[in-house]
Formats: sequence, structure tokens, C-alpha cells
Amino acid sequence: MVTGAAQGLGYAIAHAYAAEGMRLALIDVQAERLARVAAEINAEGGDALAIPADLSDADATCSAINRALDVLGVPRVLVHNAAVLVERSLLETSLSEWQRDVNIILQAAFLLAQAVWIPMTEAGGGSIVLLSSASSLRGFAGEIAYCPAKHGQEGLMKTLAIEGRPSNIAVNTVAPGVPIHTPMSERSYTEELKEDWLDPALITPAFIFLARQDASGVTGQRVIAKAGEWQLTLPT
Ligand SMILES: NC(=O)c1ccc[n+]([C@@H]2O[C@H](COP(=O)([O-])OP(=O)(O)OC[C@H]3O[C@@H](n4cnc5c(N)ncnc54)[C@H](O)[C@@H]3O)[C@@H](O)[C@H]2O)c1
Repeated sequence: MVTGAAQGLGYAIAHAYAAEGMRLALIDVQAERLARVAAEINAEGGDALAIPADLSDADATCSAINRALDVLGVPRVLVHNAAVLVERSLLETSLSEWQRDVNIILQAAFLLAQAVWIPMTEAGGGSIVLLSSASSLRGFAGEIAYCPAKHGQEGLMKTLAIEGRPSNIAVNTVAPGVPIHTPMSERSYTEELKEDWLDPALITPAFIFLARQDASGVTGQRVIAKAGEWQLTLPT
């Protein structure tokens, strides 16, 4: 199950998982683009179901995950990759704008994890992966919703990794360890970073590795994904 799969890193993760033979539930707010991604994977011999949903909305998030569970059964891995980075300062941001951006990142992580928790437990385990960032550890001007939401996701991971142990559920975050070329970075990167950005497909081995984990393996970690490799760092 991969959120934010219509473009960017989520698109790359979906293709990498399809190449591993995984059946996929893909969730994104961009319905047409998501349908094209699923059709592309299916035309290549994969098995992908497109579930359009706005993850800022709690009801829509729960409906999407329930549809995925109904059609595809218990997921081996849930990757919550969807996010928005809208650069606004404190005084430029309304409460509803702030809540929307935080909900896509943090509320959806909570709801998605909660929905798969019992099915994964009953299935004997699973793996949950949340998307980390430099903004999960440091502050950046203008990231008035993105930065606290990403910090929150990091905290959620640490708590869920502890709660997941008896259920054999691994919970980790992945931070891209190299600049990646996505629609988000087209908007947010400096010209200097854009000089070195890489195809996000190059960092998907970390996601394949984590899809195979349960609580007996790697859990509670912030994983740094570099081109073709990854490294583990202890949670701070
Ligand atoms: N691009 C980077 O350099 C970078 C660095 C660190 C972390 N990340 C993280 O990687 C992840 C993917 O980033 P990306 O660069 O591919 O971003 P992106 O903007 O290119 O893609 C994000 C995807 O999330 C989807 N999405 C946005 N709002 C949604 C909503 N309300 N409901 C459902 N789906 C929604 C978008 O439609 C899009 O397909 C994000 O979590 C981001 O924070 C990216």
C-alpha cells in the first residue's frame, strides 16, 4: 500500500514494488494521474489498484484504506509517502491551511497505521514506512506546517515501533539521503541542489529492504536512502 503514488518518489516506489512482484494499492488525490500509473504498472504485468482519495480528510482516508483491505487483503507493507510542502510563514497561514497540510502528513499516518494494525497483527506481522526529511529533525523558515508534521511523523514512528513489537510490526522512517528530482523538489530546491538531483528510482532499494522487515528485523529506525544503498541511524 503506497500513498502519494501519482508522481515523484511514490511513483518510483510503486514501480519498484511492482518489479518485485508485489500487488499494490495506490492512494493519491490526483485521480487521473494515479489511474494512469496503475494502468502503466498493469500493462507491464503488475497488479495495481488505484484508489483516489484526499488524505487531508479523515473519512476519505479511512474509506480508501478500507477499500484497499477489502480488495487486496492485509498489506505486507504500508508506505505513507504523500505530503505537501507549501512554503508559508506563520502569519501567512490560516488555521485551515495549516490543518490541511498537517493532516495529509500526520493525521493520515495515524489513521492508515491504525487501520492496518489489527489485520497485520492477525497476519503475524508487517512493515510500516513513513517518509522522513531533514525537516523531521531541523527547522526551516516557511515550513510552518510541513516541518512540525514531519517532526510528528518521526515521533509517531518511534512510539509505533515500540507498540508494534508484540504484534511483530516493524515501523521505520526513510529520509532521502541524496537530492531527488520530483515535482516537490522542482518547487522547493535551490538551484544548487537541482544541479545534483537524482532520479528517485535510485533510492527505492531502501523501500524494498524495509518492505521485508518485521519487528524481528529493523524497526524504530530512521533509514537514510542513498543511490542503491541505505544506512541506519539511531532515532534521536
Ligand atoms: N523531494 C525531496 O527532496 C524530499 C526530501 C525529503 C523528503 N521527501 C518526502 O518524500 C515524499 C514524496 O515527496 P515527493 O518529492 O515525491 O513529492 P511530490 O509532491 O512530487 O509527490 C507527493 C504526492 O503526494 C500526493 N498528495 C499530496 N496531497 C495529497 C492528498 N491530500 N491526498 C493524497 N495524496 C496527496 C501528490 O498528489 C503527489 O502524488 C514526501 O513525504 C516528502 O515529504 C521528499
